[in-house]
Amino acid sequence: MRKLLLPGFLLFQLLAIGQVNTFYKEKYRPAFHFTPAIHWMNDPNGLVYHKGEYHLFYQFNPFGNRWGHMSWGHAVSKDLIRWQHLPLAIPEEKDTMIFSGSCVVDEYNTSGFAQKPGQIPMVAIYTAHIENIKQSQHIAYSLDDGRTWIKYNHNPVLDLGKKDFRDPKVFWYALQKKWVMAVVLPIEKQVQLYSSANLKQWQLMSSFGPAGDTTGIWECPDLFEIPVQGEPGKTKWVLMHSPAPYMQYFVGDFDGTTFKNESTATKIYRPDYGPDYYAAILYNNLPAGYKPISMGWVNNWNYANDIPTTPWKSAMSLPRELMVKKINNEWILIQQPLEKIKELRQEKKEWINKEVAGSALLPIKSQVLEMEIEFTVDSKSIAGVRLVKGSDGFIEVGYDAVNGLLYIDRSKAGDTSFHASFSKLSRYETYIKPVNGKILLHIFLDKSLLEVFANNGQVCMSAQLFPAEKSNGVELFANSGKEVFNVVRCWKMKSTW
Ligand code: FRU
Repeated sequence: MRKLLLPGFLLFQLLAIGQVNTFYKEKYRPAFHFTPAIHWMNDPNGLVYHKGEYHLFYQFNPFGNRWGHMSWGHAVSKDLIRWQHLPLAIPEEKDTMIFSGSCVVDEYNTSGFAQKPGQIPMVAIYTAHIENIKQSQHIAYSLDDGRTWIKYNHNPVLDLGKKDFRDPKVFWYALQKKWVMAVVLPIEKQVQLYSSANLKQWQLMSSFGPAGDTTGIWECPDLFEIPVQGEPGKTKWVLMHSPAPYMQYFVGDFDGTTFKNESTATKIYRPDYGPDYYAAILYNNLPAGYKPISMGWVNNWNYANDIPTTPWKSAMSLPRELMVKKINNEWILIQQPLEKIKELRQEKKEWINKEVAGSALLPIKSQVLEMEIEFTVDSKSIAGVRLVKGSDGFIEVGYDAVNGLLYIDRSKAGDTSFHASFSKLSRYETYIKPVNGKILLHIFLDKSLLEVFANNGQVCMSAQLFPAEKSNGVELFANSGKEVFNVVRCWKMKSTW
């Protein structure tokens, strides 16, 4: 580890001061999603808005391209689209890794960390991980807007003496002027809620679970208030977390102490029904009037360490704006890509009422695209779009009206050889109903990432794919005869790097 320290550190410094231009041109490198310049990344951590900057901290290995030496990497953005890499924020220390957590702006200096009047501390709350021994919650603070961090000298602030107890998400509960922490007991499959007046002493308030998906361990919880779509002024609360290797959410209410679930107990609701969406959390401290914004890790622990990208591994999803809506008596999370992503659109191609029998190749060649597609379905329809179409195959996004399923299928989309479970996890589907007889797809393809928002954000699906660079065709298909594609729009997208 010592040997690696110097070159790794120097390289990171070079990248941090802006010499990233020779990077970001590699095979599979996303053009408009966040990726670290080099090395391994997993969960987003400490998402927080402060003084005009969106901070993105993330689980990062400063020493290599596989999971290990977990520390907090750091980037900032003024618009959530274009990112500036910053030096490592919170490094691993001796035998203690810095696991996932959150970040708050302590405007009223409840922590007492401010050293002079008017100074506003940022406080990071994270899990200190000692392999096979213990996980406890620690804090660190910054008095220079997140540029440097000082570990609190009386850590831990919350310790149950357990081996698995992690991923604190803290937010300010204004109604009762207190901090609230959601944190998981992964093995017990419980989310615990604690409160604190000063971020240093924490009291247990309640716990939630097991519930919904209890097959895997539970990780990365978040509890947040969210507007109800179409009902101005009305809000609900969502408890979202990651039962490995996917995510789930519950919609209900929070009274300052307990989360009360109103989602159907027998059903599992996922923020994303694809293979690659995990550990998503929300931004803290957004300006008043903003919709809640989340970001997730576009990967899956089954094969994450082995994906064929170098010198970096893993990407974050596009930032998503969130609302909830009651549809057919069920609370559904509505997620839309950040509106501002539209700024990256280049020239538009559009087709209206295009009839497709079998398949139709469109005159577009790119692996960096946004598409909007609306098509009318009947009871026999199996139709949609194939991307990265080339001699080695394609990825298919389709709707199967016979079974009422939206699906993505990446089994023929390029390299699947790097891990046996990647090819096993190649087809993902979920039930959706047409809206006024139509299926609406909003798709982002970014080299090795695909994000699909269907029916105005009622369903999302994210997946990684590793196609050959020359496989860049776009094809509409209608497997059960003729289909009318009412609207097809396509934009090539600008790179943000
Ligand atoms: C989720 C997770 C967290 C943990 C972190 C370690 O992906 O396993 O529970 O804090 O990653 O890197």
